[in-house]
Amino acid sequence: MKDIMTAPFLIEMMQTTANMYRLGYDERNGGNISYMLDPAVAGEYLDLNKVIRTIPTGFDAKALAGKIFIVTGTGKYFKNVEYDPENNLGIIRIAEDGVTAELLWGYRDGGRFTSELPAHLMSHIARLSVDPDNKIIMHCHPDYTLAMTQVHEMNERAITRTLWKQMTESIVVFPEGVGVLPWMVCGTNAIGEATAEKMKEYRIVLWTLHGIYGCGKDMDEAFGLIETVEKAAKMYMLTAHLPNVNTITDQNLVDLAARFSLNYRKDFLDI
Ligand code: 13P
Ligand code: ZN
Repeated sequence: MKDIMTAPFLIEMMQTTANMYRLGYDERNGGNISYMLDPAVAGEYLDLNKVIRTIPTGFDAKALAGKIFIVTGTGKYFKNVEYDPENNLGIIRIAEDGVTAELLWGYRDGGRFTSELPAHLMSHIARLSVDPDNKIIMHCHPDYTLAMTQVHEMNERAITRTLWKQMTESIVVFPEGVGVLPWMVCGTNAIGEATAEKMKEYRIVLWTLHGIYGCGKDMDEAFGLIETVEKAAKMYMLTAHLPNVNTITDQNLVDLAARFSLNYRKDFLDI
């Protein structure tokens, strides 16, 4: 058995959480990440027959039975993951009944997975239905995105248009636009179901006055989506109160889409 501290997926979790903490995306215990692992790879580092304990998932996740995830712990601080991954992270397998998670490693102090597990697992199910390669669901609280949800009209067309017009790269990185949810109580199955529904259409979902969800085939895709939205939101918050002298027009967006062969939301443009 290989030493789990050398596992690339564990190192990625440690580096990503540290990076997000230092960017200010995850104050205190804010944010959570779930990463679906290849069972063959997980088996190189763990005895998959040894279940430490079981934890109820709180909903029926049968569609993910047998799938293994490394998940940040509830109440745990992203800044601490790199110093003590075994306490701040856990590796779980969804049992055949779909309502039980089998703990294979981690949550050493008796802890459990993020309170947002419903939003994560439901989003994994939704993304896998449209992208069989999806592995990551990532949630965080970046400053400018959060600020923008206080002051901007929160509908998908309006906010996507604003984000696309803040900088040239926006439409290239998220041509499908961003999904939006109104303010909702977090950590519930209801917000999980609403997020997953949006995730069938969008790789980014904004939670009004709370934060952002991103997904991807790997950490770079999920994180890259979030940091691009956050950068665009920053441009908006830095300039929204100033006269708008130069702007990206709808025709500019069409030209970008042609240049990069983008499958973009044409109904979000006034053309
Ligand atoms: P957890 O500590 O349970 O992961 O919750 C953090 C959070 O961001 C809630 O939305
Ligand atoms: Zn949150």
